[in-house]
Amino acid sequence: MYHNPEILESLKKVEATRQERFANKDNIARMTADEKDAILKAYHPDYKEENFVNLTVGVNKGDKVPHELAAYLQAHSRIKGKKIDLTKPAYDVDVLVIGGGGAGSSAAIEAHEAGANVMIVTKLRIGDANSMMAEGGIQAADKPNDSPAIHYIDVMGGGHFANKPELVHKLVTEAPDAIQWLNHLGVEFDKTEDGTMVTTHGGGTSRKRMHACKDYSGAEIMRTLRDEVLNRGIPVVEFTSAIELIKDTEGKIAGAVLMNMETEEIMVARAKCVVIATGGAGRMHYQNFPTSNHYGATADGLVLGYRAGAKLLYADTLQYHPTGAAFPEQILGALVTEKVRSLGAQLVNKNGVAYIHPLETRDVNASGIIRECSDRDNGVDTGTGKAVWLDTPMIEMIGGEGTIMKRIPAMHRMFAKYGIDIRKEPILVYPTLHYQNGGLEISPNGMTGIPNLFVAGEAVGGIHGRNRLMGNSLLDIIVFGRNAGKESAKAAKDVKLAKLTLSHVAKYEKELKEAGVDTKLVSPKLLPNYARNRKDI
Ligand code: FUM
Repeated sequence: MYHNPEILESLKKVEATRQERFANKDNIARMTADEKDAILKAYHPDYKEENFVNLTVGVNKGDKVPHELAAYLQAHSRIKGKKIDLTKPAYDVDVLVIGGGGAGSSAAIEAHEAGANVMIVTKLRIGDANSMMAEGGIQAADKPNDSPAIHYIDVMGGGHFANKPELVHKLVTEAPDAIQWLNHLGVEFDKTEDGTMVTTHGGGTSRKRMHACKDYSGAEIMRTLRDEVLNRGIPVVEFTSAIELIKDTEGKIAGAVLMNMETEEIMVARAKCVVIATGGAGRMHYQNFPTSNHYGATADGLVLGYRAGAKLLYADTLQYHPTGAAFPEQILGALVTEKVRSLGAQLVNKNGVAYIHPLETRDVNASGIIRECSDRDNGVDTGTGKAVWLDTPMIEMIGGEGTIMKRIPAMHRMFAKYGIDIRKEPILVYPTLHYQNGGLEISPNGMTGIPNLFVAGEAVGGIHGRNRLMGNSLLDIIVFGRNAGKESAKAAKDVKLAKLTLSHVAKYEKELKEAGVDTKLVSPKLLPNYARNRKDI
């Protein structure tokens, strides 16, 4: 229910054009490659050069990253000035998984399956992660009209061909098995009566390959993975963060320094292999964007890995999901799943015009919304900013009455709480910081350049190039999570650790000093700080 007169005036125009837009829904032109390039360069936040700086220390010295990330990559260690006794580990395992989301859980399950002594450490609780919040679905080319090769082309095109081909190959060829693995573990995918999986399109997909569990796919997948971790008796150390990696004197990874989030007690975990599965960075609020991300998404893994000498890839590219909730203010930035557009809702400006195809890739659609709301002055004033409409009632016109409750009930619930019935009224949206396209560089076996340091999930860079397609994140946490678990368990069998050391941390501090970095910040950030007069940045 909307009350603001400007919103109501625009709403009338949206309603007035709906029938005609419905009749012409299949005639909305797709952008040409040149048009896409132009709109991205003019409006996408990744192209706002003033929001980036070049790193002055570390293996990516000279590379451009968001200034908020640079501040934390080039901050002091949380163990600076502390005496850490590396000879008395509180934990001694084959594989230490840092992070309790989908990638970490998948890694732990497979490492356990391979016979490794594996432990998860997570700064919140297992499952408190972006994976849990994923909505729209998970891609896999497992229908007769599709193939991993077609999926591969879509992923590469969506990523502007910047993706690492060998990682994309792994992602798409192992996708059908990932779905079967989840299905057998107990994930309740949407199926027709004969058991066939229901699949839909996402932005930039040339086949319907999005498998979903209504619009809470991540919650259903995470529920299942968490059950599997707990049923197997894999130890999970909760409310404990990794604050530094440990190496041995031969340069191999050898564990992590842990900190109890409540008591700040420091502990040592010795490990033959470490898997970083710490997720994304939405809570860094790059360029002051709101975020769809979980509270713990603060780029921790990038900081841990970078300080230990692991290379970053594409840390300058972020994903702004086109449809973050823009009204009411209480849910600003919350994810409005792309599935809403897959089911037929159009993006419509304040004059009732469907100005763009709703399933252009995310970077293009985010740029389109920013253009409507800035230079073109076609945005609706919400009271906290400008926004465009997402015309949800069209879903029922296309799919029939009841489609919304059947396919996207969580979206209905999210807005119904504020008196907006998305079956009858459109909603207001604006881009929200959603995903970190870049991260730590890995080989197809999941290992970084540091022996026995693996990465999986959103902390990896290179799988999605410079723009990820919907549903390939839930997919990559499973494919690369499982992979990291298997490979780390295998590698751990041959590891003989030398003496443990934190000399890389001291070396990094020295580099900071020599580069003249003057900062009081400590990292990793661990949790966002929303207090007034915050002093952390
Ligand atoms: O729109 C969405 O449901 C988000 C999916 C994703 O990021 O893969």
